[in-house]
Formats: sequence, C-alpha cells, structure tokens
Amino acid sequence: MPHTSLPSLLPRPASAATGEPGSLTLTQTTRVSADASAAGVLAWLQREVGAATGLPLAAGDEDSAQIRLSVDPRAGLGREGYRLIVDGEGAIIVGHDPAGLFYGAQTLRQLLPAAAYRRAPTGDTAWTLPPVSITDAPRFRWRGVMLDVARHFLPKHEVLRFIDLMALHKLNVLHLHLTDDQGWRVQIRRYPKLTESGSWRTRSQQGAGRPPTFDGRPHGGFYTQDDIREIVAYADARHVSVVPEIDVPGHSQAAIHAYPELGESGDIPVGTQWGIFDEVLAVTDHVLDFYKNVFDEVIELFPSTYVHVGGDECPKTQWRDSPSAQQRIRDEGLADENELQSWFIRQLDAHLAKRGRRLLGWDEILEGWLWEDGDARTGAERRAEGSSEDGGAVGGGGRREGLRPDATVMSWRGEEGGIAAARAGHDVVMSPTHTSYLDYKQSESEDEPVPVGTLLRVEDVYLAEPVPAGLTAEEAERVLGAQVNVWTEHMDTPRRLDYMVFPRLSAFAEQVWSTGPRDYAEFEPRLRAHLDRLAALGVEYRPLDGPRPWHTRPGLVGWGS
Ligand code: ACM
Repeated sequence: MPHTSLPSLLPRPASAATGEPGSLTLTQTTRVSADASAAGVLAWLQREVGAATGLPLAAGDEDSAQIRLSVDPRAGLGREGYRLIVDGEGAIIVGHDPAGLFYGAQTLRQLLPAAAYRRAPTGDTAWTLPPVSITDAPRFRWRGVMLDVARHFLPKHEVLRFIDLMALHKLNVLHLHLTDDQGWRVQIRRYPKLTESGSWRTRSQQGAGRPPTFDGRPHGGFYTQDDIREIVAYADARHVSVVPEIDVPGHSQAAIHAYPELGESGDIPVGTQWGIFDEVLAVTDHVLDFYKNVFDEVIELFPSTYVHVGGDECPKTQWRDSPSAQQRIRDEGLADENELQSWFIRQLDAHLAKRGRRLLGWDEILEGWLWEDGDARTGAERRAEGSSEDGGAVGGGGRREGLRPDATVMSWRGEEGGIAAARAGHDVVMSPTHTSYLDYKQSESEDEPVPVGTLLRVEDVYLAEPVPAGLTAEEAERVLGAQVNVWTEHMDTPRRLDYMVFPRLSAFAEQVWSTGPRDYAEFEPRLRAHLDRLAALGVEYRPLDGPRPWHTRPGLVGWGS
C-alpha cells in the first residue's frame, strides 16, 4: 500500500491510496453538507476540528459544500465502514452507517496536521487535506477497553476524555469495572450505603511489596446515576458502547462492608490491599435478591446489550465452611463449591435474560460445568438433554445445566477459556493477560514504575492475534473481537494511566481494526507520527525510548516474572 506519501493513518485503513491530483484547504468559507443521518458527525467536526482550526466549518447545501457527509447503507461498505475521497472537487465521506461516517471523519482529522488535535489554534497552520481515496471497515465488532475505576477512581471528566481517545482510535466498547474489594463506584438508589460507605477506603497499598506498605491517606469517589447517564450519552454520540461490570461473587468486599449481611464474615473494611481475598458473597436468597435489584438499576442506566457479572477469582474457602452454602449445594443437587459458583452465575444469567440482556463474564463462569469436569458435551447438547428453559438449576441428581447460549465469555487466563467457550457455541471476547493487560510492564528496565506481570511491549500488543489458533472457521466466528484491560492497582492518577495506556492502546487499535499482515517495522514510523497527535491532545504517553525521571516510582516493587 503506498502509504509513504499519505499522512500516517492509525489504525491503518483497509485500502488507501493517493487520489487524483487536487487537495482541499480548509478556510473560513469552507462549507460542510450533511444528510439527516450525518448531523451528529457534522456537529462533532464543527466542535472538535473547528476548535483546533478556528474555522466555523458552517453547514451548507450539497451543491456548494466543499465537504459532503452522508450515510448510505447500500454503498457496499460493510458494518461501520466508510469511504473518504479528497480530490479537486473537495472531500466526501460516505458511511455505511452513522458509526462508519464518524470513523471517516476521524480519518479526515488524521489527514490534517497534528495541530488539528489541539483545543485552540496556535498559529498560521495550513489546514490542507491531501488527495486520497480510502475505503475502510473494521475487522472486529468488539474493539474494547476495560477501565478499572474500582481500584482507583477515575474522575468523570477523565472518563469522558478517555472516550474521546478511544473514538480517535476507532475503538467502540468501554467496559467499566465498577465494583471490587477496594471500592464501589456507582450509585444504586435502593442501597445508598454501597456508595456512602463502600466508595472509599482508609488507605491504599503502594506497590506489591511484602509486607505491604500503605500511603496513609483515604481514597474514594463514585459516579452518581446522572454521571453515568452523561457518560453513556457522551459515549453513544461517539459510537462507544459502555458495558457495566458488577463483579460477583468474589471481589465484593466493598459491598460487604456496606451491607455485612451480603457476606460470610460479618463486618469487614473496604479493601486496602491488592490481591485475591477469601471474603466473598454468601449464596443466600437475600443476596440473590439484592443483586437482582442492583442489576435492575444498572440495566436502567446502561442500554448495553451486554452486562458483565465478573465471576473471576472467587476463592471457595468460606463456602466450604458455610452452613448456608452447604445447604444450597444439597438443595440444588450440586457436586461442589465450583458448581455452586456456576449456579449463582446462572441465576443472574436467567435474570438478565428476562430483562432482554446478555450476560458477559470472565472465563471462570465456565467453571463447574464446562471446564474441569471432564464433560465434553457442549452447552447445546446439555440443553438438548432436557434442562429447564430459563437456565434454572435442576435439582436432585438431575442434569447440570450450563449458561444460556447467548452468555458471552471474556477470556483472560490465556486463550483456553475462549477456545472452550467458542467450541461450546458461546460468543467470546479475547483479553488474555499476556497480550492484553495494560498494567503489565512495558520493558525490562528497572525504571519502569511498579513493574508487574509479564513483559508487554508496544510491539507485543501490536503483533498479537486475537483469534486463537486451532479454532475452526465456524468457531472463529464466535470471536467478537478483543479487549485490553486497564487494571489500576498501581495507576493512582490519570497521569499514571496515560503512561501505562499509551501508546499501547494505539497498537491495540490496529490489532482489532485493521485487516492484513502486521509488520512492526512498517507500523513504528506511523506510530511515531501518531504520537504528535497524542501530544497535541496532552496525552502523557510513555516515550518509545523509555520512562522519563518523573515516570519512575523509586522504591516501589512489583511482582511477576
Ligand atoms: C481478572 O484479571 N481478574 C479478570
């Protein structure tokens, strides 16, 4: 592809060529036409590119406009696809749908100098669009990022900024990890103590040293329901879907602190250390009703089809010693505590299905029925053998039931969960630790701040392949896409988050958007040019040659190899 004479587009479009001779220079008199479905993109261009350039980019009619925006589902561009042409007659962007048109407008902005990413003009820039002909569409429909706003709260305005950065990279799913041991971050009207007392902790562990050390100051924060509505609407206008996660039945100490009857251990504080802890939810009717009510309010706030129930890292120690958990195991004819976890998740699966939503969970939701029990039957086969329709448990020695067919699995402990789920007929989102965990260290240098996990360089993210090898074509269809996860134990400020996320997120964008071979040597010069855009936006990315002195965290140790 003749990219050399084109600006450094990122993610790389499916096809891009220098077009007919003739460029378009934006001026005070440039007019933009938009059909009815293009109004949102026109407003975005005026607001974003207008602010940077100081140009009004006023609406005009189609005959006289120099930039023409339209949506045409019959143009053969494919879901979220677009065509962008700049030639002697001006610029046109046609989107298959409003999302495609929006991505075309994002690409148009990339054709301008990096100063097009500032909030106000800085000098005499020539806003010239070069001649191009671009046809583009994404490889995957799920191009996601998980933000852990539980370990460290990310203020609302930073979430909104993050959504803009996602949209710039043509990413479209923001998964918010809203609850964990160390904090509950979303207002639930029915249970006010979740945020009154569950949204803050007295202190936070610093680094991963043993014995732990602490910073000695409280940390907290939460989103009101109006904050969430604002975030969701802001994201929607940028074609980003926000997927909420309420993590159960492990990682629930903040909720148990607020309402001790949810747990097995009485009063416990909101967590102040990082790790996996024995304190988990009780599996009583009261707890199930409580969480069904919580999910009902979450569903009101988030229109996303997918609702994430967590399901990860739930130690079974307390259930082994709990009379009510053991009683549940007997009543439901379950084999053990693994099946109890599976039973609990299935209750939520059925509840979400009644509300027309799809359950999404970490790959532990496969435990107790599909995995580790040596049973090779698929979920469909299990269902065909006569289990109840609503996914409810079958008691007294009957068939164990799996998740509903539309439950979706997020594969994080390697690829095995994704492979098992795809083979059993479930949709999957791939986010294996070794290619997707943006809390993992970016180099082997001692200067990396709180180095954890395994090495995950920008080139490792770039070259990762989302579809596991060995899946049949039909099974591979089950892979909706991929996601990177931003766990924030060691990202206590937005500056630290920028350092860990960028530019690895830019590399990820190309992994999930672009088709065709990926060659890091071809990518790196484009990435270097793209960094100028991030700099213009004020993103404090990690320099490709390593951390600056103020990025280091002397004295804080990490973990991992
Ligand atoms: C996870 O990293 N516990 C999903």
